[in-house]
Amino acid sequence: MRVVFREGERGKLVAGNWKMNGSLSALTELNAIGQVSRGFPTVVVALALPATLITAAGALFPNLIVGAQDAHAEAAGAHTGCVSAAMLREAGAVFTLVGHSEARLRQGETDALVRRKAEAAHRAGLGVILCVGESLEAREGGEALGAVVGQLTACLPQGADGAWLALAYEPIWAIGTGRSASEVDVVEMHGALRLALRAALGRSGDDIALLYGGSVTAANAQRLMALPEVDGVLVGGASLRADSFVPIIEAAGAKVPALALH
Ligand code: PGA
Repeated sequence: MRVVFREGERGKLVAGNWKMNGSLSALTELNAIGQVSRGFPTVVVALALPATLITAAGALFPNLIVGAQDAHAEAAGAHTGCVSAAMLREAGAVFTLVGHSEARLRQGETDALVRRKAEAAHRAGLGVILCVGESLEAREGGEALGAVVGQLTACLPQGADGAWLALAYEPIWAIGTGRSASEVDVVEMHGALRLALRAALGRSGDDIALLYGGSVTAANAQRLMALPEVDGVLVGGASLRADSFVPIIEAAGAKVPALALH
């Protein structure tokens, strides 16, 4: 699953995260999303859906990249209530999120576990969007860069490669709050993450797409995606309905000012 177009024409990855929302009837929203995305060939539109919707969405909307929100680190076994990466793949998922801050905080996920989940997902043939992001305390204490780069270093899976891995920077205090990170903070953080990826992986670190997430809407998507080292966005609330998600896809497909390209 190549999710970034760093060779030749640069495109954007617009990923939606439906969290624990959506029934079969909500899949009608994907119809409009799928139709619009056909008009923007340089935009990859991916939806991390509840596991219960993956099979239906994959069958109904083949031009959307359908994925999951989490995958267990083990391939199989006595893990009541959990779903393995291979099961998700079989259900029709093409990728999965791992390490979302809601899973890290509410389910006590450590960096080591997030790394194992990413590796398990890759072994099962899934693309991975690995999420990192600092707390409000870290941001206010001036420790955001160190915290997030540290998370990346601890979570970076074996064999990390832009062909299957993307990274999403999602400050915890920006998720679902209506308060996105400032452009200055996003540029600084994405620059630091790119340097960390290069330090770990050499030049192939440039192939890993860097997404910003946290209160992305139609109002701020275009400005965010024009920033250096922002290869796309991860969108929660605004991805639930076509009327709020489609303008973000359109913003991703719009020509950005030459100065913002690098
Ligand atoms: P939000 O969520 O867009 O609703 O802030 C983002 C996320 O949690 O991925």
